[in-house]
Amino acid sequence: MIFRQLFDSVSGTYSYLLASRRGGEALIIDPVLEKVDRYIQLVNELDLKLVKAVDTHLHADHITGLGALRDRTHCVTVMGESSKVDVVSMRLADGDKLTIEGVALDALYTPGHTDDSYSFVMRDRVFTGDTLLIRGTGRTDFQNGDPRAQYDSIFNKLLRLPDETMIFPAHDYKGETVSTIAEEKAFNPRLQVTSVDQYAEVMNNLKLPNPKMMDVAVPANMRVGLAQEEIARHGWALSAAEAMGLTGRPDVTLVDLRERIEREKHGIIPGSLHAPYPDLAANVRPGGMLHELARATGKRIVFYCAFGERSAMAVRAAQDAGLASACHIQGGIAAWKKAEGPLARQ
Ligand SMILES: [Fe+2]
Repeated sequence: MIFRQLFDSVSGTYSYLLASRRGGEALIIDPVLEKVDRYIQLVNELDLKLVKAVDTHLHADHITGLGALRDRTHCVTVMGESSKVDVVSMRLADGDKLTIEGVALDALYTPGHTDDSYSFVMRDRVFTGDTLLIRGTGRTDFQNGDPRAQYDSIFNKLLRLPDETMIFPAHDYKGETVSTIAEEKAFNPRLQVTSVDQYAEVMNNLKLPNPKMMDVAVPANMRVGLAQEEIARHGWALSAAEAMGLTGRPDVTLVDLRERIEREKHGIIPGSLHAPYPDLAANVRPGGMLHELARATGKRIVFYCAFGERSAMAVRAAQDAGLASACHIQGGIAAWKKAEGPLARQ
């Protein structure tokens, strides 16, 4: 396995690059905007393909690299379903799997530091975001933080992982890099409490100044969505209502770019084809499945995904590959649901 812990010294943020092999797919957790060039260089040096960029929560102390990485690598951006970010490509709920080739992480909803904090468990290690830090815990005094929820997340979720599980947090300000569940149980001063009330008392009296970047970072991090208007300006976007009028027509093929788990969970547009986003480049190039389908039948390709990000990137790629009729459903299946479009179960 390839595993890199990367550090941004300005904000004290750790980012993590994961892949199962050289030449394979990679995933990055909590990337920092200013370090995007470095991540892309490392991805290239290690001969990896970045396919997912994930934030554990909406950060207040640095601007996320999610949007920049998506724009430069066409990777999928991922956050939890309770995050107030405007648009990401994919959202996960507690218990969902975050997967790339050869790597699977379990999403664990661990609110408290913020109400959109998630941890990700991968076999022998857990990425705890700012929920559980090394000899500390993330503050709970803004962004709908809640010390009682954090107590529950830590004591009833994270500390129930096996003792030897390694903890990789999103921040450290003293140079610590890794800990374990057993170590934190024994030595984390914040965890030496006997009740949730006592924990809340400690957390409510920290009297910390706000992060320097907070006024800039929070609003910026809430707007990482891809500008789908750009695609619409080219005439390559359909509203959900417009798309509903096209379903069942013989000259239109709807193409679902989502992953199997998203299809199972949220349903599919009846009659649509499944062509997952990671295979997009192969599918739209001449000789590829979608390219040949469009050419042979003259059908219009209408992409859709969860929120319209992957499909917007797919339209761009398909247009570049010469599929002039390719378009997408703006806002994805979320907009489709809102418009009360019909859904079929997988
Ligand atoms: Fe945070």
